[in-house]
Amino acid sequence: MAPAPSFCGHRWTYNPIRGSCLLLLLVMSNLLLCQGNPCPSCGPDVFATSLRSLTDLFINAAWLSHDFHNLSKIMFKKFNEKYAQGKLYHINATKSCHTNAFHAPEDRCEAHQLNNEDLSKWTLVLLYSWNSPLYHLVTELPSRKELSETFLSSAMKMETMSDKLQAFIESHFRKIIAAVLQTMHDAASSWSGLPSLTSSDEDRRHSEMYNLFHCLHRDAGKVDTYIKILMCRTRRTC
Ligand SMILES: *[C@@H]1O[C@H](CO)[C@@H](O)[C@H](O)[C@H]1NC(C)=O
Ligand SMILES: *[C@@H]1O[C@H](CO)[C@@H](O)[C@H](O)[C@H]1NC(C)=O
Repeated sequence: MAPAPSFCGHRWTYNPIRGSCLLLLLVMSNLLLCQGNPCPSCGPDVFATSLRSLTDLFINAAWLSHDFHNLSKIMFKKFNEKYAQGKLYHINATKSCHTNAFHAPEDRCEAHQLNNEDLSKWTLVLLYSWNSPLYHLVTELPSRKELSETFLSSAMKMETMSDKLQAFIESHFRKIIAAVLQTMHDAASSWSGLPSLTSSDEDRRHSEMYNLFHCLHRDAGKVDTYIKILMCRTRRTC
């Protein structure tokens, strides 16, 4: 396999046959600006040495984050098709993500500027932030027979995947956990959608679920990006 020169502006996919993480390079020319030195502002990195011994583990984690992102996309798409047609739920969705206050790097190029420590930190901040909404979703959905079973099983899978990703980052970057908790504490941002999620007003409930699936999909995409950048660095191919 030819080494990937860089990955900003490339789409990632996996080739299960080769059993290794691969890049299908779909170059998007507007992002080519990001090529070059992968991390111009990154100083010496405390994780640099330890990362290199973790390639295989990171490949597994990147698979997982890829599936996490993919499943979130499917959930959002299905919800949108089934329950949000003709509604205006989308109007408020982006601005009401409970994780907005963190200003976690938005895209691959922005994330690319961060060192490994910060990338792992943002990964955990986002994953931790979804523990409560996911928990409540999984608790709430069975009592609302209105959504198909698939949503419940997908939400449960999302929870499990998130737990595994958290455990993975925590086990290899234990040092950052305090900083993660501090960041979350400082942003004083927590999910406040429970009253809407459990409301007896169907429209309110669905609007909240729309937000939830929309924001989860966005954040799962961020997590996936951060983990793939970390994985990429363990391979020193970018
Ligand atoms: C996303 O998940 C679905 C269902 O598990 C699967 O069929 C599809 O191939 C996946 N897509 C990607 C890009 O991994
Ligand atoms: C969007 O938010 C505004 C302000 O909170 C609210 O008045 C409005 O009803 C919301 N629109 C929709 C479609 O939910």
